[in-house]
Amino acid sequence: MYNNIVILTGAGISAESGISTFRDSGGLWANYRVEDVATPEGFDRNPDLVHNFYNKRRSELASVRPNEAHIALVALELNIKGSVLVVTQNVDDLHERAGSQNLLHMHGELLKVRCERCGEVIRTHESFNKDSVCQSCKRSGGLRPDIVWFGELPKYMDEISFALAGCDLFISIGTSGAVYPAAGFVQVARGAGAHTVELNLERSEGASLFHERIYGKATEVVPKYVKELLM
Ligand code: OAD
Repeated sequence: MYNNIVILTGAGISAESGISTFRDSGGLWANYRVEDVATPEGFDRNPDLVHNFYNKRRSELASVRPNEAHIALVALELNIKGSVLVVTQNVDDLHERAGSQNLLHMHGELLKVRCERCGEVIRTHESFNKDSVCQSCKRSGGLRPDIVWFGELPKYMDEISFALAGCDLFISIGTSGAVYPAAGFVQVARGAGAHTVELNLERSEGASLFHERIYGKATEVVPKYVKELLM
């Protein structure tokens, strides 16, 4: 039985809810340039293009729901004696809508914007443009999606490092293993002596680093794996 479980999730866990992944064919990075919509430089060049990209994705959240994989992770958190921490690279809100309590959004959240003038973080379902006014400092032009872009530091790295150093089971779900530091978590967990498992549609870039690998759709393999853990 495991006492400290860390679960890393990526776009693949939300794919069957209807949210696009990044690197699959037809994924977001096939239709948009990372440099344009996911870097601070891209935002400086064309803030309205970047706002529109995230406005569209924010509004799409209204028409999607958590799937069986998100729900299975909640069942694990509720029913296992030890602790479960979900670290997600996803900026959607499907883990929290499913009911996950111990959750860290390391790449930020679509439903938050941040004012670069006063630092206020605002939870919102609204759309924004380069002239939007911050409800806190009342100034315009400072609001940006509270998303971690390439070249920026992921959030909660201290908490995540601490959890990885103490985990005895590390599960990676629905991520291609292409983006660091998340792609390196498996090695940190292994270094801490954890058993490591990859659940994905196909082999990720770091597949060989895992002790155990299970391939299939998240809505099938995750509930099955959780059921076995809880037996
Ligand atoms: P990717 O799009 O890179 O990888 C998604 C993974 O999910 C792939 O390995 C797919 O095979 C797998 N997958 C697709 N459908 C699945 C399903 N139904 N069940 C299980 N697995 C499935 O997405 P991430 O790894 O999350 O960062 O990408 C990591 C980061 O790169 C993102 O957080 C984002 C992106 O650039 C930033 O924007 C900072």
